[in-house]
Formats: sequence, structure tokens, C-alpha cells
Amino acid sequence: MKTLKIFVATMGFALMGSTAYAAQVTAPNDVVIKDDTVPQSLTGVAGDPIRGRKIVINRKKGNCLACHDIKDIPEQPFHGQTGPALEHIPEHHSVAEMRMRLVDSKMINPATMMPSFYKLGQYRVLKGFRGKTVLSAQDVEDVIAYMMTLK
Ligand code: HEC
Repeated sequence: MKTLKIFVATMGFALMGSTAYAAQVTAPNDVVIKDDTVPQSLTGVAGDPIRGRKIVINRKKGNCLACHDIKDIPEQPFHGQTGPALEHIPEHHSVAEMRMRLVDSKMINPATMMPSFYKLGQYRVLKGFRGKTVLSAQDVEDVIAYMMTLK
């Protein structure tokens, strides 16, 4: 009985936590763009650069290495050359600019090859992927945090 009570209390906390979290996530269609930047965090939760690095490498998520050379990831054999090498990022881009670049690069350059990672309805996709963005809001924040570590 005691265990059950503890379980119920823990679940209550977990639910409260997830509700508070969900309330802060900005939906793709609600992202506010200002002068080619997205100043507001998509989640209000600080990005995790270690998680961001994994998303950058993951071929089913960021897959950034398909197009970008990233010196900081020497353990991965193949780095693409379609886009510029990603280094010295904080010297050239603010967090708000990076967020715009990831949410929807086409706002910066309509002809870009770079996918829009937090936008709905850009691809003709399989049923299971309809209504989903390539990256989640927190994925975007984590990738930004990682990009800002690239010296
Ligand atoms: C299909 C190819 C492709 C993929 C995948 C891709 N990019 Fe890009 N990216 C480009 C191209 C091309 C540019 C050059 C600018 C443009 O086209 O707008 C670019 C530009 C950039 C820039 C600006 C660089 C600068 O020096 O100004 C950043 C930052 C960037 N990409 C980050 C990423 C990250 C992070 C990912 C993965 C989440 C990613 N890109 C995935 C093609 C790609």
C-alpha cells in the first residue's frame, strides 16, 4: 500500500512536469520570426550540447555531416562538402540566427539545399511522418547549444 502511494505521488509529479514542459513548447506554426532570426527559445529549456552533437551525427535526425564538414567530429568517416565547413560558429552567428537557420533555412536563402528542420508540410511524406517535423523543438535547442561550442 505504501509503495502504491509513493508510486501515485511520483506519477503525479511526472505528469505535472510533462504538462509544464508541453505548455512551453512552441509549435512549428507559432514560431515568431524577427529580422531573419528566431529570438525566443522553442522550449524554454536550455539546450544540451552533448545531446546536440549526437543529433548532428544521427542520419535519421540532423544528418548534418551529409552536407557539412565538422572538424569537431573526427570519429565519423564521411563529411559532405555541399555546405560550408561548420566551425567558429559563435564568431559568425548569434543563437537567434542559428535558431532561424535550423527552423527554416529557406527564410534566409529560398534556394538553399539545407532542409527546414522545424517546419510542417514541406515534404510529401509517408503517412507516419505527416504532421511531424524532422527535429523536435528540444532537438533544435540542443543542436544550437552544440553549434555554439564550435570554435
Ligand atoms: C542537404 C544539405 C544540408 C544539410 C543536411 C544541412 N545543411 Fe546546413 N547548409 C547547407 C548549405 C548548402 C548551406 C549554405 C548556405 C545556404 O545554402 O543557405 C548551409 C548553411 C549552414 C549554416 C550557416 C553556415 C555559415 O557559415 O554561414 C549552418 C550553421 C548550418 N548550415 C548548420 C547545419 C546543421 C546544424 C545541420 C544539421 C542539423 C545542417 N546544417 C544540415 C546544406 C545542408
